[in-house]
Amino acid sequence: HSGSGSVINPKELLGKDLSLLTDNIRKLLGSGHPVLETVSNYYFSKQGKHVRPLLVLLVSLATTKQLKTQEIDKPLTNNSGIFFKESKTEFILPTQRRLAEITEMIHTASLLHDDVIDLSLTRRGANTANHEFGNKMAILAGDFLLARASVALARLRNLQVVELLATVISNLVEGEFMQLRNNSSNPLQKFNQQLPPVFVNEQLENSPDFQYYIEKTYMKTASLIAKSCQAATILGGCDEAITDAAYSYGRNLGLAFQLVDDMLDFVVTENEFGKPVNADLSLGLATAPVLYAANEFPELLPLIERKFSQDGDVAIAKELVLKSKGIEKTRQLAKAYCDAAIQDIQVLEPSRARTALIEITEAVLTRTK
Ligand code: FPP
Ligand code: MG
Ligand code: MG
Repeated sequence: HSGSGSVINPKELLGKDLSLLTDNIRKLLGSGHPVLETVSNYYFSKQGKHVRPLLVLLVSLATTKQLKTQEIDKPLTNNSGIFFKESKTEFILPTQRRLAEITEMIHTASLLHDDVIDLSLTRRGANTANHEFGNKMAILAGDFLLARASVALARLRNLQVVELLATVISNLVEGEFMQLRNNSSNPLQKFNQQLPPVFVNEQLENSPDFQYYIEKTYMKTASLIAKSCQAATILGGCDEAITDAAYSYGRNLGLAFQLVDDMLDFVVTENEFGKPVNADLSLGLATAPVLYAANEFPELLPLIERKFSQDGDVAIAKELVLKSKGIEKTRQLAKAYCDAAIQDIQVLEPSRARTALIEITEAVLTRTK
């Protein structure tokens, strides 16, 4: 997304804060072992989208103004006691900026492990860490990132935020496991049922298979976004109406983000995406485009059942998905979640940051990488 048509460019609004992000993460990853440092820093040397820290910073900017008493914390130190560079941006607290860094570290840890599980060879237009350094080092680098993120999290001195982000880490693993052992007859651990459901084809989306897919998607993608947005407002000292809104916004946007990711797997090229395409079918996964397509072409059901394991299954499934309305329906569902996300933040005072949070929903829908 070029951002050319948008009124407010989030990257401009947060220029300084975003440029500090990678520098600060690098400082949090200092280690006695030079190779460990190299491998754990590897994905940060590539151009990521920084979606999660961007959202944490924008939510902070959009809500911290509503504080009764605005208290700016003392600058945080790294483990060797050195002060970090401070951005002078008015409404982002140092703890919120650190939260943005922690969020990106947890996300990157999950990518290091994910690329091993998915046997992926490319990410961000370059070799994956496992391809470059081997599985053992990629796994350990992911563990190291999680550990250093946990240290930084503890230093925020906010137990509610520690609990939220610790829960995110278990949700990531649960989501990955739900995907590995895809079985919708497993009892679902329902998340936040009081939230309004979003529908394109209500009957299908109420089916156990679709519910399982959405639940898995929440666990592997939306939980991190939802809970880190919520944590930003907790650090900002906001009341429950605002912390709930931030959670719900992040959850809905996170679901939309992964729906689009699953759609792009069918329609973009590896060159555009910077990572393998057509990957999900080969991994045996029936994502939203396939579930919608199977509703239209039931001959897909046995292929889904056997996880596209027979010769030719992947090609047949891909053809049927492209022939069906599956891609379009997935985009519609993502749009519906984005609309819900926009509704969620109507309770925030109007601000440039709130406008940016609204415009990000558009970028999520139109992105090609
Ligand atoms: C990317 O999905 C992967 C995730 C969103 C989460 C992966 C989680 C784990 C591997 C569990 C371990 C977690 C931690 C915190 C160490 P994808 O494979 O659909 O996307 P991709 O196309 O970017 O690879
Ligand atoms: Mg994966
Ligand atoms: Mg993957």
